[in-house]
Amino acid sequence: MPDPRLRDYQRIVFFTGAGMSAESGVPTYRGAGGIWKEYDYRRYACQNAFVRDPAAVWEFHNFRRGLVARCDPNPGHRLIVRAEQQLPQVTIVTQNIDGLHARAGSRSIHELHGNLWRVRCDRCGVKVQDGPVLRDELRCPTCNSWWRPDIVWFEDYLDDAVVQAATEAIMGCDLFISIGTSAVVYPAASLPAYAADNGALCVEINPDPTPASHLYSLHLRGPATAMLARLAAGDPALLT
Ligand code: OAD
Repeated sequence: MPDPRLRDYQRIVFFTGAGMSAESGVPTYRGAGGIWKEYDYRRYACQNAFVRDPAAVWEFHNFRRGLVARCDPNPGHRLIVRAEQQLPQVTIVTQNIDGLHARAGSRSIHELHGNLWRVRCDRCGVKVQDGPVLRDELRCPTCNSWWRPDIVWFEDYLDDAVVQAATEAIMGCDLFISIGTSAVVYPAASLPAYAADNGALCVEINPDPTPASHLYSLHLRGPATAMLARLAAGDPALLT
């Protein structure tokens, strides 16, 4: 039976999804109360929607910024920060755009789907972190084109450099811990297989099974904060 004590591993990757932030109060995307249950991504989260109706897309993203701004990192985020401070190599690969890992104090973070608090010029690609509240009159000072949220919308490509850095970390890790992702959105969902193929111990934290559950040798069926706390404490009951 694999031993899940964090301190026994040299290179740990935490691979996080919306369930990581659920206990902070940030809505997940799927399941009860999920964002895509209430809002049609074709109207709010794809380039075509932005071209058709930028004001509606901005309104949606400002609303989401408002939601996240009222939330704080949870004990699970902070536990990952502590692991990063105490262990040789800890990397976070996240699908989340909420910035809560960074707000908690984590440093080594690859954000596969971008960041809600950054804007990017639609034409020349200039990026501004902590960019302005998005409004339809705001344009890039360099080329006068539109600012758009620097997040990956449906049908967008992921940033090559981010994917490469994330893949390298995952291929080289000896402990891979997936937290709170439904594992249905590609290409992000294809990354955990690199950890499994390279012999890392793979742990899935999620109250529910996912289509990727077969990749993991340890399944911690419960909420992220409680399961991370037990993992950090080396709780032997996890193995039973
Ligand atoms: P989902 O909303 O698809 O899935 C959230 C997962 O978290 C589910 O499997 C839940 O069972 C689990 N979960 C819920 N509460 C939890 C808790 N307290 N602790 C642990 N797990 C919990 O979110 P993602 O998999 O992150 O993309 O979604 C992937 C991508 O789809 C997102 O990055 C987003 C979305 O479209 C973009 O915006 C580009």
